[in-house]
Amino acid sequence: MIYITGDTHGTIDIRKLLDNQITEKMTKDDYVIICGDFGLVWNHKKETRQEKKWLDWLNGRPWTTLFCDGNHECFPRLNALPVLSWHGGHVHQVRPKILHLMRGEIFEINGESFFVMGGASSHDRGPFKGDTHAVINRSWWPDELPSDEELVKGKANLASHGNKVDYIITHCLPSPFQEYLKHGAYPNDRLTDYFAELTKIVKFRHWYSGHYHCNIDVTPRVTVVFSRIMNLGTNIKNSETVVGFPKYRKNDTVFFMQGEETIFGTIKEVMPWGTLVNHQEPFYDIIPLEQTKKITVRETEILEKSMIYTGDPIEAEEAERLGEEE
Ligand SMILES: [Fe+2]
Repeated sequence: MIYITGDTHGTIDIRKLLDNQITEKMTKDDYVIICGDFGLVWNHKKETRQEKKWLDWLNGRPWTTLFCDGNHECFPRLNALPVLSWHGGHVHQVRPKILHLMRGEIFEINGESFFVMGGASSHDRGPFKGDTHAVINRSWWPDELPSDEELVKGKANLASHGNKVDYIITHCLPSPFQEYLKHGAYPNDRLTDYFAELTKIVKFRHWYSGHYHCNIDVTPRVTVVFSRIMNLGTNIKNSETVVGFPKYRKNDTVFFMQGEETIFGTIKEVMPWGTLVNHQEPFYDIIPLEQTKKITVRETEILEKSMIYTGDPIEAEEAERLGEEE
């Protein structure tokens, strides 16, 4: 099977691939595609001990890891890796079972075609922040956006496939979808504009992107993924939550089911990895409105989050801000 997930950021967000109810079922025939910001080829000088440790760990998993590049990769190191022909396209080989899907290439995997075009504009450093001189070639590289040649190659490869592929894998979204999702906070650039053009000329079944650190179906066929590990072809609505990545936070107010009844309450404790006896999904201790006794509720019993927040508003704002940062 083929699975899709979002940014791993080196060691920071790779936890989602540790043993959980989805990865423990994977076999040597499976693939995990990371939609950019892989981040384990990151140090600007050389592979660090920590990178080596995690790359070796990942290479030792049953599945094969594939990734498009995001904006948080060390491009000179990535581009210096051996290039191999693989499933109809070209990859950089990080390890035998960790492959970088190069920009503008089309791959055929298990009878399905994938157009891949990595890259994105950084919003945490570089020109957007005005600190380019301090970060260039250390933690920011101009190659984060594809070159004209890579963009032209991408279009030519698509044209030779009749401008039709099953899936599109990118780090950022086409301009109109990015605008819709971020309300202008992420300025469009030549890559998001290029993707906007592709939406008009390319037929595809589903488009997956990372970058925005959230799990959302922008349209039924365009999905931004971060913490989920989705079966190819599915969207957020019908994908499983990954244990360790709870959907809700402390002090969120939610509606949840208890038998036939819908109850409103405030989350007082989050158990991301489940309870002592149930590790299948995150659990929450919730105090129903006007009561004092907590109820332990599984994530799938929560219907939706309410707009009412009962915690500290400054704390909430801070948590929101951290969630938005890349
Ligand atoms: Fe990211």
